[in-house]
Amino acid sequence: MRDVPHFGSDFVWGVSTASYQIEGAVDEDGRGRSIWDEFSHTAGRTLNGDTGDVACDHLHRYREDVALMADLGVDAYRFSIAWPRIQPDGVAVEPRGLDFYDRLVDTLLEHGIEPSATLFHWDSPLALEADGGWENRAITDRFAEYARIVGERLSDRVTRWFTLNETVVFTLLGHGNGIHAPGKELGFGAMQVAWHQLLAHGKAVQALRSTGATRVGPANNHTQVRPIDDSQETRDAAHLFDLVYNRAFLDPILLGTWPLAGIVDPVAQDGDLEIISQPIDFLGVNSYNPQYIAAAPAGSAIPFDQVTPEGLEYNDFGWPIIPDGFTQMLTGLRETYGDALPPILITENGGAFNEAPGADGHVHDQRRIDYTAAHLAALKDAIDAGVDVRGYFHWSFMDNFEWAEGYSQRFGLTWVDYATQERLPKDSFHWYRDLITAQKGTR
Ligand code: BGC
Repeated sequence: MRDVPHFGSDFVWGVSTASYQIEGAVDEDGRGRSIWDEFSHTAGRTLNGDTGDVACDHLHRYREDVALMADLGVDAYRFSIAWPRIQPDGVAVEPRGLDFYDRLVDTLLEHGIEPSATLFHWDSPLALEADGGWENRAITDRFAEYARIVGERLSDRVTRWFTLNETVVFTLLGHGNGIHAPGKELGFGAMQVAWHQLLAHGKAVQALRSTGATRVGPANNHTQVRPIDDSQETRDAAHLFDLVYNRAFLDPILLGTWPLAGIVDPVAQDGDLEIISQPIDFLGVNSYNPQYIAAAPAGSAIPFDQVTPEGLEYNDFGWPIIPDGFTQMLTGLRETYGDALPPILITENGGAFNEAPGADGHVHDQRRIDYTAAHLAALKDAIDAGVDVRGYFHWSFMDNFEWAEGYSQRFGLTWVDYATQERLPKDSFHWYRDLITAQKGTR
């Protein structure tokens, strides 16, 4: 295992979660239904029919959870706000929803932890689906209004705002192939949804700034694209995948351009790109592993093939563990965007390692420690190569509802016993705490 190098005194150490994955209490305080409530309650959509109805019961246990984060020693906590708690039907405001996040933010501040809030981590109000949801441009104004409402309440205390989480995954899995909520299978037609999310991002940046927010950016997912061989066909497929997965979600924001022009052209209006390319203060980057791409099989409707080569090391989800892909993803961003690339915060990185408590009552998740140490070393390599990275938020603070995989995949530093809701810090929790202590020792 490589030693974790020092990241400097200003580097931010954090953990991340998301509302639907941890909160539970889906019927409380006037919360409306989200697309994930509907989806997870539809037969066959999630493994074992798991839902987020209870999840980690965080809505009731947030004080205990924040105390545990304080014990972990993190500087910052990235959580997401459930839109249907704030506007249950997508329009009317529910004060009890705002009150919850108000209490959460104050509790974090009492413990010296910087609240870092994501406005949208995939749980849009179900009511908005009646009008087409994210296929309908009207949602971008609804979203801006939601951003303004939340910002007016919390911008005085939330130190970092993330607009939308992983627009690429919400687009491709939620609207392209239907693996995630809302389960639409629009193929490349989903890029209209991408456009609306980009526009919603730009409008939300404006709305948040109007409430006094000073540090705002998106939380994108980016991956290094690796063609599986050197043939022209494969390289063309990999290039197209890179455009669809990475650049379509970043060129509009950083360069004010649409990289799929002539390939997929969403319906847009004059001025959209100016709104989308609002100046941002940082780029949140979620990243887990590189993607290996092959040429599409004959007759495939999709012009590339995502493959997982044999003989690599994998996590329990089957994702390959390739730390230098993390370095190359970051140096690639720098090469592509140059000085247009703002400072980066790693807003998610981690792995599904499903070790359970052993006979001694502890969770010995050495594989998570190894993964994280290797990715932090790889991150430092990128910084040393000139990429400006200011912080690292581990995914995740605790085990949680892993979307279509239900509760089968565990990404947490903290074990959650879903029957009792007991929290048990894993070996990786203690390791991360020692790491942060050592890093802070240099401050
Ligand atoms: C998402 C998280 C998810 C994690 C692991 C990211 O795509 O933002 O919500 O749990 O990856 O799959």
